[in-house]
Amino acid sequence: MSTSLPLRKDLSGCQPYGAPELEVTARLNVNENPYPPSDAVTESIAEAVRAAAAGANRYPEREFPALRAALADYLAVESGVRLDPEQIWAANGSNEVMLHLMQAFGGPRRAVVTANPTYSMYPEYARDTFTDYVTVDRNPDFTLDINALLSAASESAASLVLVASPNNPTGTAASLQDIRALCAGLRGKGPNGSDGLVVVDEAYGEFRRGGVASALTLLETHDNLVVTRTMSKAFGMAGLRLGYLAASRAIIDALRIVRLPYHLSAITQAAALAALSHRDELMAQIAHLRELRDDLATWLTEQGYTVIDSDANFLLFGPHPDRHAVWAGLLGRGVLIREVGPEDYLRVSIGTDTEMDLFKTSLLEVTRGTH
Ligand SMILES: Cc1ncc(COP(=O)(O)O)c(C=O)c1O
Repeated sequence: MSTSLPLRKDLSGCQPYGAPELEVTARLNVNENPYPPSDAVTESIAEAVRAAAAGANRYPEREFPALRAALADYLAVESGVRLDPEQIWAANGSNEVMLHLMQAFGGPRRAVVTANPTYSMYPEYARDTFTDYVTVDRNPDFTLDINALLSAASESAASLVLVASPNNPTGTAASLQDIRALCAGLRGKGPNGSDGLVVVDEAYGEFRRGGVASALTLLETHDNLVVTRTMSKAFGMAGLRLGYLAASRAIIDALRIVRLPYHLSAITQAAALAALSHRDELMAQIAHLRELRDDLATWLTEQGYTVIDSDANFLLFGPHPDRHAVWAGLLGRGVLIREVGPEDYLRVSIGTDTEMDLFKTSLLEVTRGTH
């Protein structure tokens, strides 16, 4: 007997979000760091979790001050911007941090504006918080069309303009000039004349090329700016689920209203703190991953592909006359990449040296005679 569920009408027919989770030789589809933590890091995390488990009869610290201080220290080292721990907020992945932003500032009869193509979870945060999702197109080179973003934000009195930088799936970083223009242009343009917020999603921030600055450098002078980060990508801790953001104290106070009590478990807090104490070792791989990215971009260009300039740990390349056939052919050889973005393009994450070699030889085999 089938039950008739009182599912929300707007969720009817929706599928759960997620890329395929397949056992393959080279998993190059969700932009993870390919290097597992060292024994030393694993050992520290295990010890910290053991200590946290011994006190697990108590709820965890609701405001996680030690973790916020460690994240502020990390950002100071990574981007040169010194923030107070009270300017940091964290949750289970930057997905949840983003949801907190939408819960606090979005909602019915409110709008968030984004620039397509971009991260495919954004419409879901909007749907789940009943926030109108308004999109504009990026310029042909995938940079931001600031005028289009500002007019869409103004017309919809948007609470939030959400920009991924580097963008997923294109790898394009937004210039500080563009972020400044958005912050200035949204003043007084939000609901009831409030200041619209600019959210810069820097999930891939650490992979940016030399000379590309983080939006964190604008926080001191722009109080309607929010910068989100994650430990899932460059930091190599996707399994931990720890995302965070930096913003003014007033913005953080608003997020504290909507978070579930004790949303960050004592286990997560302990594991994240232990991982952050090894930041030098974990960050050491970033330079090599950047090199592999740039080498692969050169190689793909030599093969005749158009490769979008990337400040992230992935490359978008094409055009492919039949991208699904290429994707499937690679999968048949144990290489899983992603069918995402413009219709005739594919996205490949940067893996280890061996994975990159396998990707290259497989791509040549799959496209022989067609490319
Ligand atoms: C642009 C962007 N933002 C956020 C995320 C989510 O990261 P997290 O693992 O911190 O939830 C991703 C993951 O792929 C992403 O591509």
